Amino acid sequence: MTSRTDPDPTHPDPTATTPVATLPIDTTPTATDATRCPGKSDPGCTGPPGEACGARTPALREIKRWTVADRIPADSDGLSLARSVTEYARGRGKHFLPERMLVGLSGVRRRHAADRPFLDAFLDCVLDKHEGRFWNRSYLALPVLELLMDRRHTALSADRMATLLVSDVVRFEIAAAGGSREGPARGRPDPATLGTRLRHALRFVSQGLGRPDGPDAGELPSRRTPTARPPRLDEVADRLPRPPAAAVWQWFHVTVQPVHVLHDEYFFIRALQAHEMLFTEAAADMRAVIAALRRGRTEEAVERTDRAAATVARAAALFRMVATMRAEQFSAFRQYTLGASAIQSEQYKRFESLCGVPRVPRLHSAAFLNVPAVRAEAEDPGHDTVTRARLDLHGERAVGPAERDRLDAALGRLEARHQRWKSAHRSLAVRMLGDAHGSGYTDGVPYLTECLGNRLFWQLAPNT
Ligand code: HEM
Repeated sequence: MTSRTDPDPTHPDPTATTPVATLPIDTTPTATDATRCPGKSDPGCTGPPGEACGARTPALREIKRWTVADRIPADSDGLSLARSVTEYARGRGKHFLPERMLVGLSGVRRRHAADRPFLDAFLDCVLDKHEGRFWNRSYLALPVLELLMDRRHTALSADRMATLLVSDVVRFEIAAAGGSREGPARGRPDPATLGTRLRHALRFVSQGLGRPDGPDAGELPSRRTPTARPPRLDEVADRLPRPPAAAVWQWFHVTVQPVHVLHDEYFFIRALQAHEMLFTEAAADMRAVIAALRRGRTEEAVERTDRAAATVARAAALFRMVATMRAEQFSAFRQYTLGASAIQSEQYKRFESLCGVPRVPRLHSAAFLNVPAVRAEAEDPGHDTVTRARLDLHGERAVGPAERDRLDAALGRLEARHQRWKSAHRSLAVRMLGDAHGSGYTDGVPYLTECLGNRLFWQLAPNT
């Protein structure tokens, strides 16, 4: 099996064939920019000068209402509290929430969250630092997103969720550029950086919409449908997909809890969440490949493998968007993310371990020590993998050599995509991190360099 590397995440893959929203965008701030809260003129704002002005008094009032209440009406699901906490946390950073508030919220969780699953999941994330268990899952509010993905609430695929998350990035950036209450101290990007970020985000959204489970990609402007003038930012935002209208989806809007106040952390969190969704999708594809091979349906296995390869490519495309993060903003907020690292991503490692059980050194390294549940699955003697199912085909007379070759070629394409993902990720880390250690306590880039030598299907191509 061959593998290619993608040397630079900041440059789009010229071989990409899916519809591309490489639109010229008018990033000039709209008139509302002038209406941004000038200093402390907003009467509700309690924040210090130079900080975001967020009319926090109503938010504090709502938090207080919940923290002192013995009983809360049964029909109140806690969304109003979650909104208030989110608004407050975004104004000063989750790392800096006042101790008194956190103690109060712990009490709310104890008294009122047992039969309110969304509130419970939300507070699980908000209280992570306070309770000394801050990690990737709570930093990314995955417990709340996973509840939304629960079949009882949604019929959306994880890929579609990724598209919604990146659409939200576009809306957030446009709102900030158009004069939302985010104060200038937070360092919004300059128009050129904003334009590049939006282009990559829209490209990602456009690709998501072009997939079989999404609506028509024609909803977004693209070079294929030239318009007389570049679309204004607010027009672009209007055309993006939105979360479903069901009331429960209001929780989607409280799933970004930045640890600090800098602008770029919002889209960084959304990118990581989207990545988690994509690997959820890729892992599901690997399970489908195993099932298809066990039933002797090689063509179906080839199709699902290629689908997973496209998903991994989409995940790698996120690095182009993240490459527009300002390194100085990253270093400023990463001092508060220590302990949370995507090395703890279960879906990324689950995908890998469904492809094949990793070699022993990797299984015993930080890579899998950080995901004990997935490691246990991989070490279970009954754990089935694509590699094992492929090796078992040798004894199957029903599957001919041509079919096996087609399958091997598809597995090779998936391996190549995964190699390119790793290479693009490493390039990004070199740029943003230099020789600093990782937030997951590895030695940083050297760890990622070592990862380049691993292969998903190493047992099928022992020389790699
Ligand atoms: C500023 C950008 C980034 C830097 C500097 C960076 C750095 C690192 C480092 C040093 C590690 C090793 C573990 C650790 O010590 O933390 C790591 C692991 C990882 N990162 Fe990133 N990362 C960045 C962005 C991203 C993004 C945007 C994603 C996903 C979209 C991502 C996904 C992962 C995954 C899945 C791992 C686990 C890899 C493995 O264990 O094989 N990273 N990253």
